[in-house]
Amino acid sequence: MVEIAPFNVPLPRRAQTLSVFLWASFLPICLTLFLLCLTIPVLWPLLIIYLIWSYFDKAPRTGSRKSEWVRRLPLWRWFVDFFPLRVIKEAELDPKHNYLFGYHPHGIIAVGAWGTFGTEGANISQLFPGLNIRLLTLDSNFNVPFYRDLLMAFGLASVARKSCNNILQKGPGNSCMIVVGGASESLTAFPGTFNLILKRRYGFVKVAMRNGARLVPVLAFGETDVYDQVKSKPGTWLHWIQHKIQAIFGFTTPIVIGRGIFIYDFGALPHRRPIHVVVGKPIEVKQMDNPTNEDAQVYHEQYMAQLQEIFDKYKDVYAPDRQSDLKFIE
Ligand SMILES: *[C@@H]1O[C@H](CO)[C@@H](O)[C@H](O)[C@H]1NC(C)=O
Repeated sequence: MVEIAPFNVPLPRRAQTLSVFLWASFLPICLTLFLLCLTIPVLWPLLIIYLIWSYFDKAPRTGSRKSEWVRRLPLWRWFVDFFPLRVIKEAELDPKHNYLFGYHPHGIIAVGAWGTFGTEGANISQLFPGLNIRLLTLDSNFNVPFYRDLLMAFGLASVARKSCNNILQKGPGNSCMIVVGGASESLTAFPGTFNLILKRRYGFVKVAMRNGARLVPVLAFGETDVYDQVKSKPGTWLHWIQHKIQAIFGFTTPIVIGRGIFIYDFGALPHRRPIHVVVGKPIEVKQMDNPTNEDAQVYHEQYMAQLQEIFDKYKDVYAPDRQSDLKFIE
């Protein structure tokens, strides 16, 4: 039996589902809009100008084009209340410094990072006054017409090294958030688990050192709960295909099961399950122009230790029904 939404779902809950649906449709909406424009010849000159302009536009790597108006739309408050998504902070962050936040785990698509840092739905600017935080995403997202501009309105910028450097050099308070585990971590994201790919990821620590930015570990409880994923065991054809696709194209293809708008058992929307985003304490690093992995190691260890501390402090409150504990798998 399929579980179908009852007719008497209260309006606020309908609004929450609408906002999540809209968010999940950003890419298809932008692509459809672009294709639609292509079918209208009078628009071609404008499209050509737009495409040339976006080709030369440096904004994805120089701090994006944050629109406070877009970020503060009531839609995103509904989005945050859908799960609900809540932020817990372990320390105040002095806006005299710059910060590099690392978000863990990636989950299927880092919904929690988007909701808390890509919008004002969870009041992130009030929680950390004076900080201008950009959520960083794959550079290739900024090659998609219209979508690129939409992402930038939310303050998203490219995760390319040059982009991080540019943001962290913009003056006090300018900060960025990297979802360190990246797409490979999404293949390990099963409900109730906390599998992190972090042990050999020194790059983000070195970026912080090069720019004298402080590292802030962020651990999200529930990020892996909002989608169910079909397990692909090593040796199965699904596992083989997924790893081939990742090797060739760079992106991963987890087979996810979310919910629909009116159907609760199946669909592409995330499930209504709580996410608690714990923002840790800042780790001061030594400023160095060319840090090596060995130089980064000491901070990398402190960083992993703090993630473990946060996990132990909150695991029984926010993940009492977990399948497994925090694991640094790679
Ligand atoms: C954000 O702030 C508004 C107004 O100050 C408040 O009503 C709302 O509950 C806050 N949202 C969250 C998620 O804390």
